[in-house]
Amino acid sequence: MTRLGSVRDAIYALRKARLGLERRRLDYGRETRERADRLAEILPASAAELREYEREYESLEWFHDTYADRVAEIHEAGVATDTTHWRDGVTVYVVCRALGIETAVETGVLFGSFDAHILAAMVENGGGTLHSVDLPGGPPGPFEYGHLIPDRCREHWHLHRGDAREVVPDLLERVGPVDLFLHDSDHRLPHMRFEYETALEHLEDGGVLASHDVRLSALFDRFSDANGLRSRVVCDTGIARL
Ligand SMILES: C[S@@+](CC[C@H](N)C(=O)[O-])C[C@H]1O[C@@H](n2cnc3c(N)ncnc32)[C@H](O)[C@@H]1O
Repeated sequence: MTRLGSVRDAIYALRKARLGLERRRLDYGRETRERADRLAEILPASAAELREYEREYESLEWFHDTYADRVAEIHEAGVATDTTHWRDGVTVYVVCRALGIETAVETGVLFGSFDAHILAAMVENGGGTLHSVDLPGGPPGPFEYGHLIPDRCREHWHLHRGDAREVVPDLLERVGPVDLFLHDSDHRLPHMRFEYETALEHLEDGGVLASHDVRLSALFDRFSDANGLRSRVVCDTGIARL
């Protein structure tokens, strides 16, 4: 590894440690209660309509039955590291329902918590395609990427294996413009910036650039401001709209 690479890794480790402390202080209950109000400021839907999508999510039995069973399998295997919390999945579910998202690209699949939520919204929307990108290999334990994704959603899902740096530009060229791009892969700043910049060139008018772990740095807010995107953060997920 180059000297610059190890400095970047050290900075990333520090940011992660600081984020861990910040998360302990963050009032996730309040963040969740304010989700609809915050998102209504940037989406073409009222807070009441967005709350309706939250209630719809809670009542999706076909989704929760599978999701809960698969979460339990992962926990039993003792490998549930870095899985995105379902409360962030709900934020993305609500966005996908409110905008009727048809084409989406996501980076960083792991067990597929975000993917499952995007795909559930696509099922409820009546269609759509999610292209997801993750490195060759797979998640830890005896699982495949996207283990949390219910079978009912899988016809809408395409997995692309490779480094996002290599895969995403061509993928967006082929399938874009996209209604949603969600970053959840390598959270070191140069990589995040690369994904945000590449995605922005292929976003549909009114589309969404979303990112997990935006509280790691000021990058998401700064990028949104600099590019005229209106953004809100709920829990650990940033939503920015063109
Ligand atoms: C935090 S996990 C993703 C969690 C997932 N989005 C979820 O909803 O639970 C990060 C994932 O990004 C992948 N990743 C890391 N660097 C990557 C890269 N350069 N290109 C593609 N995927 C990458 C890792 O293999 C890992 O599966």
